Amino acid sequence: MGIRIVESEFIKSAVYPKDYPSSEFADVAFVGKSNVGKSSLLNSILNRKSIAKTSGKPGKTRLVNFFLIRFKVKENEELEGFVNFVDLPGYGYAKVSKDERESWKKMMSNYFRERVQLRGVILLVDIRHKADEKDLVMASMLREFQIPYIIAATKSDKVPSTKARGYLDALAETFDIGKKDIVAVSSLKKTGMDKVISWIESLII
Ligand code: GTP
Ligand code: MG
Repeated sequence: MGIRIVESEFIKSAVYPKDYPSSEFADVAFVGKSNVGKSSLLNSILNRKSIAKTSGKPGKTRLVNFFLIRFKVKENEELEGFVNFVDLPGYGYAKVSKDERESWKKMMSNYFRERVQLRGVILLVDIRHKADEKDLVMASMLREFQIPYIIAATKSDKVPSTKARGYLDALAETFDIGKKDIVAVSSLKKTGMDKVISWIESLII
């Protein structure tokens, strides 16, 4: 089985659950620290230049952003389906006030708690960095809410390919997850997208 994304459109941004778009389709969400490459990964998976806004400066995505994706099943192109991708605001950005941090927390826990069709989360970490406390807190939050997740180790173009496996194994150990639940991605080189898409497939088909 495999899916091919044929179309994607931005639906809306929201803060409060009452403003989420009502939808009969599953959600798959992207979380991680500011600047880790969430919006870039979304664009790469969707093969779009900037459907999700990216920035060299951390703190670009401040709201919960919903995108509607239409896909076809490769083996039978007559079969098609829909899924929502959700770009979430990043955490760990030093230059935000305490109030902003609090509202971020509320926005995230609301989303995890209230969005009943949330099927899974892609948790992004920078492949070059050791997981920090905030990433581990996010992972345990996902476990607490019993939301399936994988880790996408981003910016893999920045490490020699011979070293990538070692970095992944170290991250898998820190997060205490299986080696198949962590994948290296590069939005710059467009590598690793197939693995992320396969995991998404396993959630929605
Ligand atoms: P916030 O919205 O602030 O939470 O950030 P984000 O996680 O959405 O990050 P974004 O996608 O905006 O990317 C941040 C910066 O990292 C941008 O300058 C991107 O060009 C860069 N970047 C993202 N992915 C990659 C990658 O795979 N390789 C390299 N070299 N740079 C990347
Ligand atoms: Mg972003």
